[in-house]
Amino acid sequence: MKKYLLLSFLFPIFLSAFTAQNRVCKQCHPAIYSEYYDSAHRKASVFNDPVHNAWWKLMPKTKQGYTCAKCHTPSDSNALKKGVLTENSIQKEEPISCIYCHTIDHIQQHGAYNTNITTGKTREFFTADTSKKGSGVAHFQTHTSWFGLNRSVENSPYHKINYNNDNYYNGNVCMGCHSHTDNGHGFDILMLDAFIDKKDKETCISCHMPQIPGTKVTLKNTPTHAYHGIAGIHNMTEALGKYIDFHVTQTAGGFDITIVNHANHALFGQAYREGVLKVSIERNGKEITLQPALFTRVFGKNGKTTLPWEATETLKDSLIYGKKRLHYPVKLQKDDTLTLVLGVKKISEAGLQALHLQKYRELARFKPLKYESFHF
Ligand code: HEC
Ligand code: HEC
Ligand code: HEC
Ligand code: HEC
Ligand code: HEC
Repeated sequence: MKKYLLLSFLFPIFLSAFTAQNRVCKQCHPAIYSEYYDSAHRKASVFNDPVHNAWWKLMPKTKQGYTCAKCHTPSDSNALKKGVLTENSIQKEEPISCIYCHTIDHIQQHGAYNTNITTGKTREFFTADTSKKGSGVAHFQTHTSWFGLNRSVENSPYHKINYNNDNYYNGNVCMGCHSHTDNGHGFDILMLDAFIDKKDKETCISCHMPQIPGTKVTLKNTPTHAYHGIAGIHNMTEALGKYIDFHVTQTAGGFDITIVNHANHALFGQAYREGVLKVSIERNGKEITLQPALFTRVFGKNGKTTLPWEATETLKDSLIYGKKRLHYPVKLQKDDTLTLVLGVKKISEAGLQALHLQKYRELARFKPLKYESFHF
């Protein structure tokens, strides 16, 4: 019975395989699909991301056309290979598709930006599962026992699975796009400054795609699956706060706050991102608000502020790398409560102006990552 059910619902899948490919995956991986649909990766094209759109429109064009496709819309082959940008369903539905990510074989390193080398296979996917690492490529299997009364299935009837690619275990699969992007003047506008070390406890994947409740596939029940909405500014922002620590020490002239970043990369490095630390003291029932600290980069050319794609130098860099110590010349008193809130704005006020995005106020909304109070 189960077998017939399986076959009858597989049939339409094969017919639609050549149009929108993610829709095929959706049939058996609905939870992952809907998370993906709400992710920065689904929204990476000019048609889905107003910031990317504004930036692309303002930039001077060259005869190479839409060079951003390499990382923003690699699943649109016309955009990727010819630099031709058209409003089509791939740009809107799957600019970085399920198949694209799951077929990245390795990363080629370059000075200006890295390149993903994909296998080109549409029915064999890489993934990570430590218990299966080193095994062969997994094919669909059915097991029958008790004279045909019990049937169980293993692996996927639609595709093979390859558990042997190291890049899916250490997070290197993300680095073809996320390592660095040169603006053409030797200046990195992405600035993740990431370093992947074998000794790291957490990886790009464990922090940004944590295991959350819900089965990874309809054909069997798994307690959890990797979150494909991607923890970041769009989703699950506060869940990332646990990778940041605050320490407060009293000094002769006031107090110091140390922010410790446990990510293997700098925080808030993307052009026009802005980290904000809000600091307040509750004293005798009154709140004293101190000057917030800002973490950002200001781009320049010939000593003057400029647009990111014209920049040749950094005028200011207050990003959080490993640790950041800030001094406040305010004496704390007994019974004071010091409250710290660290958060991020997707686009700073300066960025909204420079990109003419003033009507998209929500892009400059403060999204909290971490709160903590200290009592003295
Ligand atoms: C007919 C149902 C079906 C379709 C369609 C399907 N899958 Fe799967 N997929 C499965 C099953 C079943 C598994 C195996 C789970 C297991 O046994 O651990 C699986 C496993 C996977 C895995 C590995 C998960 C793991 O941890 O072992 C990946 C990655 C994957 N699928 C990606 C995709 C992508 C991408 C698509 C769309 C192109 C897709 N699948 C379409 C049924 C399907
Ligand atoms: C080498 C890969 C790569 C290339 C090429 C690339 N980008 Fe990006 N871009 C990224 C990544 C990765 C991010 C996400 C960074 C983050 O969130 O910190 C990003 C983010 C952005 C953002 C910020 C989006 C937001 O919502 O704040 C803009 C704007 C942007 N890119 C514009 C462009 C434009 C325009 C081009 C082409 C001229 C381009 N990028 C080419 C990888 C790339
Ligand atoms: C094909 C290129 C590509 C690959 C591969 C890729 N990304 Fe991205 N990622 C992007 C782009 C482009 C953006 C920014 C989209 C935008 O805002 O316009 C982005 C955005 C993000 C963001 C910001 C999300 C937010 O809401 O602020 C995070 C975090 C992220 N990616 C993590 C990852 C991780 C982890 C991996 C590896 C499992 C990965 N990415 C693989 C291109 C890629
Ligand atoms: C220990 C956990 C941790 C690890 C490991 C980690 N990150 Fe992050 N990541 C964070 C935190 C915390 C932030 C800050 C939250 C924010 O900016 O939204 C962040 C922010 C980001 C952002 C910027 C989101 C945005 O748009 O501002 C990107 C892109 C990103 N990480 C990608 C990666 C990649 C790629 C790797 C692997 C090289 C990685 N991360 C490894 C915790 C981690
Ligand atoms: C940005 C790259 C990226 C995209 C896009 C992406 N995946 Fe994944 N996916 C990964 C990585 C990396 C893992 C491995 C996570 C881990 O270590 O468990 C993964 C894991 C999986 C798994 C196994 C889940 C688990 O918990 O082990 C399935 C199934 C899967 N993906 C299906 C899909 C489907 C379906 C889509 C499209 C809707 C998709 N993926 C889009 C990178 C991606």
